[in-house]
Parts: sequence; C-alpha cells; structure tokens
Amino acid sequence: MTIERTFSILKPDATRRNIIGKINAKIEAAGLRIIAQKRLQLSLAQAQAFYAVHAERAFFGELCQFMISGPVVVQTLEGDDAVAKYRDIMGATNPANAKEGTIRQEFAESIEANSVHGSDSLENAAKEIAFFFSNLEIVS
Ligand code: CMP
Repeated sequence: MTIERTFSILKPDATRRNIIGKINAKIEAAGLRIIAQKRLQLSLAQAQAFYAVHAERAFFGELCQFMISGPVVVQTLEGDDAVAKYRDIMGATNPANAKEGTIRQEFAESIEANSVHGSDSLENAAKEIAFFFSNLEIVS
C-alpha cells in the first residue's frame, strides 16, 4: 500500500441538499483523511479550465453550467491507495450503474448531478490538487 493524495469535489447538487457531512462521513469511514478543504463558487472560466479535458464532449457546456449552478466543496484526500479507494467508494459516474453502498448510488441525482468528482489517476490528482490548493493550504 502506498500513501497517496487525491482530489475531490462535492458538487452543487450536494451543497444544495446540505449533504456534505453525509458524503464526508463515507470518505472518512473508508480510511481517507480530508487534509485540505474549501467551499467555493466557481466561475465559468474556472469550470471550463478544470474540465478542459472534456472540452470536445457534447456534455461539456451543460457540465460547466451545472458546476457553477451553486457552491462546491473542493478537497484533498490522503490515505492508502487514495486514488483507487476514492473512485471505488464514489461508484460509477452514472448512478444507475453505481454499486450498492457507494456515494453515487446513495446520493447522486443523475449522471450530471452525480454529487462527487474524484481524480482518475495519480498524475491527474497532482494537477487537480494544484489547480485549487497551494502547498500551504494542505496539512496532513
Ligand atoms: P466527473 O467525474 O466530475 O467528470 C466529468 C463529469 O461529466 C462527470 O463526472 C459527469 O458528472 C459529467 N457528465 C455529464 N454527462 C456525462 C456523460 N454523458 N458521460 C460522462 N460524464 C458525463
């Protein structure tokens, strides 16, 4: 096992329903530590830059509009195999395909309003963490 860091967003559907604590309870129960956290209202430019990898996808415009439709909570998580572990407990992107007990199966409203984002690789985790946090804001 390797101690890793990954990046997490609790999306506008989660802040709107006031379920940040419920989602973070599942993150902590899985053994991940929240070592940086802030609540933000993203600008359209920030959402577009963060999701630039999806710029050519048909859903890009709606995805960015959704991500600015309310506050988000951005977080850095740390723990054993954090990237894979967080993806495991999030469940499939589309909640219709998410396994029992996962965050998205329990809380997501749709493939777009799917409550959480998590990095898909260690390399992207480092980039996504650096997009939102300075080293001084991360305390493990
Ligand atoms: P996320 O992990 O934040 O990465 C990109 C997001 O695009 C994804 O979660 C989904 O919420 C959103 N999305 C919206 N429509 C689709 C789609 N058809 N396929 C994949 N992702 C989608």
